[in-house]
Amino acid sequence: MREHKKILTANLDDPESHTLKSYEAHGGYKAFQKALKEMTPEEIIEEMKKSGLRGRGGAGFPTGLKWSFMDKKSPKPKYLVNNSDESEPGTFKDRLLMERNTHQMLEGMIIAAYALDVHLAFVYIRGEYTSCIENTERAVEEAKEKGYLGKNILGTGFDLEIIVYKGAGAYICGDETGMLSSLEGKRGYPKVKPPFPAIQGLFGCPTVVNNTETLATVPWILQNGSDTYAKIGPEKSPGTRLFCVSGHVKKPGVYELEMGSPLMELINDHCGGMQNGSRLKGIIPGGPSVPILTAEECDKAILDFDSMKEIGSHLGSGGVIVFGEEACMVRSLLVLTEFFADESCGQCTPCREGTGWAVKLLHPFVEGKGELPDLDLLMDVADRMKFRTVCTLADAAASPIESFIIKYRKEFEDHIANGGCASHSQTQN
Ligand SMILES: Cc1cc2nc3c(=O)[nH]c(=O)nc-3n(C[C@H](O)[C@H](O)[C@H](O)COP(=O)(O)O)c2cc1C
Ligand code: SF4
Repeated sequence: MREHKKILTANLDDPESHTLKSYEAHGGYKAFQKALKEMTPEEIIEEMKKSGLRGRGGAGFPTGLKWSFMDKKSPKPKYLVNNSDESEPGTFKDRLLMERNTHQMLEGMIIAAYALDVHLAFVYIRGEYTSCIENTERAVEEAKEKGYLGKNILGTGFDLEIIVYKGAGAYICGDETGMLSSLEGKRGYPKVKPPFPAIQGLFGCPTVVNNTETLATVPWILQNGSDTYAKIGPEKSPGTRLFCVSGHVKKPGVYELEMGSPLMELINDHCGGMQNGSRLKGIIPGGPSVPILTAEECDKAILDFDSMKEIGSHLGSGGVIVFGEEACMVRSLLVLTEFFADESCGQCTPCREGTGWAVKLLHPFVEGKGELPDLDLLMDVADRMKFRTVCTLADAAASPIESFIIKYRKEFEDHIANGGCASHSQTQN
């Protein structure tokens, strides 16, 4: 098996990896000292730009560029929010970082806060992630005791407090502006952009929202240099990435691979191939918000932002969901669509009504009572949901509907002809 560089998971074999003692024993908390004592905020932002790091929350937006948009001239307070809401189905990589590499994430936040002139930062953690909340709260206390957080950090004159905030189980609060509404104490409604958070974010103040994995990568870049990072993987999608694999593979789990690796290397070499000799039917490469790939497409798929786009999908959240031949694609699509319908915040008519109608239209197919024209109607509903809403949840919901029906249409037709699912187990999805 090909060896991959480890930036985020190098020391996770240590059972105490979440503690300050272990993190420091493995060289942790050196990068932020270098940053605070030897670098200006502008130099850090420049390093981030040169590294080519792209956000790991879903969209792959360049991190250094996002930081450079922060309105630092504003007289208002500035905020940093670490997006640890992680609610995309099949996605559990930030959980690993919060549970096992908690201090690397915090060190990344301290560096980002210093670069962005932030003195109050938040970690917004999915409420169900109780062990992540406990570990993060403990890590914040440990860092405070050591003088890495609080007033006049290490005598540099830089002050920073970090607040751990628990979400209440709403997927929509993972959207950055939904999250800011929630932090403001309001219902987690996403807000219209522009203005973007870097100009007008939390409480109307300049705010940067970054994903947990993005922030946890920052110390390594400063410690080892942006040039070293930029050389890992493809030029436009450098670095490593955490892929969380679930579904019909022998060894599901979180794997750190260099960007630019073939998708089938992840499945066959790292995950041990398909479970019970099953034949691959398809893979969702980045959480259900991105189009599924057929087995033939998977053979060509490369794990980086641009290569995925070229074959019509996306790296998204890093949630790799594998479907073997035993999966019923009709039922799987219903499950995913029900998720989006439940989680729609209801602000926009195309999303609120469209996701609900899609569920109503899909149910008869699962029950073997579907009608052929309803497949086209489903495609029409999906099309009318896209590109006309406040946030991208509606586009995300349209993505599996369109890609499943286009790529597995025969299965939907067979459900009509056979009066239900004749050849697939309905319990294994
Ligand atoms: C419905 C919805 C849910 C989202 N959930 C998450 C999430 O759980 N974690 C996350 O980091 N980003 C999530 N995002 C993306 C965020 O809005 C934002 O782009 C991201 O946190 C930016 O971080 P990055 O630049 O480091 O990738 C979600 C977006 C949408 C529309
Ligand atoms: S697209 Fe859906 S989830 Fe997003 S703001 Fe509109 S109704 Fe809410």
